[in-house]
Amino acid sequence: DDPAAAGAATGSATGDRNGGGGDRAGTGRRPATLRGRRVVTVFYENSTRTAQSFHLAAHRLGAAAFDLPVSRSSVQKGESLRDTLRTCQALGFDAVILRHPVTGAAAYAASVLDVPVINAGDGTGEHPTQALLDAVTILTRKGWPAGFKVAIVGDVRHSRVARSAALLLSRLGAEVWLCGPPGLLPAAPPCPGVKLTPSRDAALDGADVVMALRIQRERLAGVVPDLGEYRRGWGIGPRELERARPDAILMHPGPVNRGVELDPAVMDDPRCVIEDQVLGGVAARMAVLEWALAPALPDAGAGVAPEP
Ligand code: CP
Repeated sequence: DDPAAAGAATGSATGDRNGGGGDRAGTGRRPATLRGRRVVTVFYENSTRTAQSFHLAAHRLGAAAFDLPVSRSSVQKGESLRDTLRTCQALGFDAVILRHPVTGAAAYAASVLDVPVINAGDGTGEHPTQALLDAVTILTRKGWPAGFKVAIVGDVRHSRVARSAALLLSRLGAEVWLCGPPGLLPAAPPCPGVKLTPSRDAALDGADVVMALRIQRERLAGVVPDLGEYRRGWGIGPRELERARPDAILMHPGPVNRGVELDPAVMDDPRCVIEDQVLGGVAARMAVLEWALAPALPDAGAGVAPEP
């Protein structure tokens, strides 16, 4: 059950790029609480960050992480989502980490499986572990987000990242503004208190956190906005960042359409924390895997920690 050996056998990137001794993920030395467990990523959409960080997270907890390569699997022979997932369960996986283009796919998966299902992104629905890593990044760089103004700018309508971030950061006490072109804003905010505006200036003025979003081309059904117009109206460059607080941080879930959502100049700005987000993803996903799979921990059920 050596997870490193399992990674080599499956060609998955479970290896620790720090040679096992480093701690760039800030995850500390952890006991192998998931030794003997096996998890599988089943991604019907492409991913770099989420898939690899789940593998790293599992490895750091002593679990073996495998990948079902959907494009080379029996899905291509017409096997249904239900049968694919039930097959993973029958193979003995202890948890399924699912990414799927259909909103609600993770909830459906949970309804047909007995093992835990972790949502790694479902259509325009949610991306809960992204929200956790975004919260970890804000907590680490700026502190508890209560009272922070968080401006989330871009293709809000198709963004599961925006939805999950708005739900979580609102719950933690932040004032969340969702901003984008009128055609890329949802009809209603995801929860009470979240503001919707097409005005980039209104969203950015005095913001503590600025989060740009990727244009979700795969969900636009061919109606891609004019990129020049988008950049002028909703892109973030040095001038736009000036409207935020001087100590604001700039986030993006990635991958970035450079020169559209973000001017490359701001990606090199010390306020840009995109790589912190990537790294925080390992810690956040370790916590989720442990929560889903480890025997009850002493503080299990404690809920959201109070503001310190
Ligand atoms: N943020 C995010 O989900 O990135 P990937 O699509 O690369 O996993």
